[in-house]
Amino acid sequence: MKFFVDTADVAAIAELNELGMVDGVTTNPSLILKSGRNILEVTKEICGIVSGPVSAEVVAQDADDMIAEGRKLAEIAPNITVKVPLTWAGLKACKVLSDEGFMVNVTLCFSPNQALIAAKAGATFISPFIGRLDDINIDGLDLIADIRHIYDNYGFETQILAASIRTVNHITECAKIGADVITAPPAVIKALASHPLTEKGLDQFNKDWAATGQKIL
Ligand code: G3P
Repeated sequence: MKFFVDTADVAAIAELNELGMVDGVTTNPSLILKSGRNILEVTKEICGIVSGPVSAEVVAQDADDMIAEGRKLAEIAPNITVKVPLTWAGLKACKVLSDEGFMVNVTLCFSPNQALIAAKAGATFISPFIGRLDDINIDGLDLIADIRHIYDNYGFETQILAASIRTVNHITECAKIGADVITAPPAVIKALASHPLTEKGLDQFNKDWAATGQKIL
């Protein structure tokens, strides 16, 4: 399973990248706002750090303008993935941009049928939002499992990019289901390393080591 980082925070991306944890990056207009940076500048900087796909999202409402924005975003670097919303206009833009050879991430997916139609439109990635379904008391992980099932039934090559990940449990379950990619905030990725028994065990080792009076260096 690939790990994408869901942020436009360059320092956080660089820190995780040093550990080989970053297979790609996803951004969206809300994350650009949070970064306080210009979209073209920050996206270029991210592409200078990460060699895998970096999603940059269009903001136009109609297909022609989405296509124009997508082409402009794709000029930033060869690893740009153009992110379009799962609307009819977004699907039209997806088809045109993917036919032109660009990677396309279709975002804001909340149903298996939306994922099916995005695959038909040539999406490289489909982004089902787990946390936002959980927010309205619908199990977001069921959506990941349904899409996996449907894509496998027909051999669709669109990659399932599980998004709106809020907990480490979401990542565990996505790995069990077989999502191709997860995108998560840096804090959630770092939390994968945490376990209370690890901390408890280390405390005990540290105390016992101090009691030995020994040194390694
Ligand atoms: O990748 C989509 C993600 O940024 C949405 O996450 O937590 O705002 O639902 P969230």
